[in-house]
Amino acid sequence: MEKAKWWQDAAVYQIYPRSFYDSNGDGTGDLRGITEKLDYIASLGVDVIWSSPFFVSPWADGGYDVADYRNIDPAFGTMEDFEEMIAGIHKRGMKFMMDFVGNHTSDEHAWFQAALSDKNSPYHDYYIFRKGKDGKEPSNWASIFGGSAWEYVPELDEYYLHLFAKKQPDLNWENPAVVKEVLDILHFWADKGVDGYRLDAINYLYKEPDFPDVEPMPGSIYGFATEHYANKPKVHEHFRTLHDKVMAPRGLTTVAEVAYLNEETARGYADPARGELDALYPFDLLNVDQDGYDKFSPLPLDLPKLKKALSHWQGVMHDHGWLALFIGNHDQPRALSRFGDEEHYPARSAKLLANAMYFLQGTPYIYQGDELGMTNPHYDSLSRFRDVEAINALNEGLARGESEEHWLRLLNDRSRDGGRAPFSWSSEDNAGFTKGTPWMDPCANFKDINAEAEDKDPDSVLNFYRRLLKVRKGLSSVIYGDTEFLEMEDPELMVYKRGSDDEMLISVNNFSGNERSYKLPEDFEDAKLLISNCGDPVIKDGKAELRPWEAFTLIKSK
Ligand code: NOJ
Repeated sequence: MEKAKWWQDAAVYQIYPRSFYDSNGDGTGDLRGITEKLDYIASLGVDVIWSSPFFVSPWADGGYDVADYRNIDPAFGTMEDFEEMIAGIHKRGMKFMMDFVGNHTSDEHAWFQAALSDKNSPYHDYYIFRKGKDGKEPSNWASIFGGSAWEYVPELDEYYLHLFAKKQPDLNWENPAVVKEVLDILHFWADKGVDGYRLDAINYLYKEPDFPDVEPMPGSIYGFATEHYANKPKVHEHFRTLHDKVMAPRGLTTVAEVAYLNEETARGYADPARGELDALYPFDLLNVDQDGYDKFSPLPLDLPKLKKALSHWQGVMHDHGWLALFIGNHDQPRALSRFGDEEHYPARSAKLLANAMYFLQGTPYIYQGDELGMTNPHYDSLSRFRDVEAINALNEGLARGESEEHWLRLLNDRSRDGGRAPFSWSSEDNAGFTKGTPWMDPCANFKDINAEAEDKDPDSVLNFYRRLLKVRKGLSSVIYGDTEFLEMEDPELMVYKRGSDDEMLISVNNFSGNERSYKLPEDFEDAKLLISNCGDPVIKDGKAELRPWEAFTLIKSK
């Protein structure tokens, strides 16, 4: 078996910097805030920090609308603060992955401003402009954040494409000058010491240039056009360019955010032999508790569906690539609120989620606050929400005549703001996140669920995460093993086995408030306990008597 690459036995901690820690009292998190908390992060036992963007940005989409790729937004600090942060990360033996938003820029980026001011400017071709069709948009493509994907510019009598918000014009990667700019930016940050990149929306780089009209969505004139821009064969070429010109020669690792993936494309991106990407973050893996791709049409968790999706991806990537394992991120509501039982078994079910996810094959990605069992903030007013996606969806819902109460429930349940509320550091004012007025209100439960209290409690979610990351490290079954899901159709149990040449483990998780009996496979009857979320499991005659939300993992040599 080929020796694992360093990132295959690593764990990554994701920071959403605006909500992590505010060092200067202006109400928003900043880079010095991250630096001050590096010991905390290192104490988790993670190897890598990935931060969401902190570049100059008007913040139309949480920083994923970059107006200057080479400078830190003053709200986050200065280049010196960045250098201090990365030095602090390296000093503690960790690495740093940068978020690179290459599909689009902000409309306030100098390139776009130049493109708008003059059709003959070379920057005009940095973006995707088209003439209207019959007095309307060039096509009926929907933006991912609602409405049309085209915005009219009267001065040019042209429309520009924005797959995301209208303040996020898409770059034209068919223009070699754009690719050259991107390579320069990636080298610029590599020179400053970054160890890898998380590539945002990177499978959307190539759009079919004739922009065909698509089937409208119900109740809309616009339609999902992903078949015309997601995972088109041409993106492989772009990935190879990034790999050959930057990542490979500089020894950088990549993880790519890639939605709407099938098996063949996933292997095409991440198979090591192809020299494209290191690991994939199949973003739509968590669409298992909603109607199709509409996150605001929630459905209860369908555990068999989740197991099927996980088992599928484990199989697809085993020996053909690598997966980022995640249960939450800045684009999701809190995992505990969504998949666990925050009312009756908050800590136990938060631990179960980690046990269920992080013994799979792949690199654990831990989203800030999930290691505490943070919940959605459950705001009492629509005015508390900040995210462009939430606000656009709300406005569209209200325009359809839906009630504010309905949308308050929906946004509390499903909006990205759920995962973006300030990190709960302590029981002090504003959860210890800021001495000023926080840009978003913290979770009301911060007096009970916070890092300071959990640090001292050996049974806390935080200390469970620390133990889990420690015991998982270096295990051959975890790094190399194949994965077999058992009890596929059981609506409450998630059980899977992992096996390498010399070792096997089993992860048993009761996703319910019910007591359940589970007969262990015979080959595990004499296995040892690796970790559990409520003391020693009760196992008699090979049968586990599972308590509500109980989870454990057993291991044995072959
Ligand atoms: C994915 C990012 O994770 C999300 O936050 C952002 O809105 C879109 N890509 C557009 O950049």
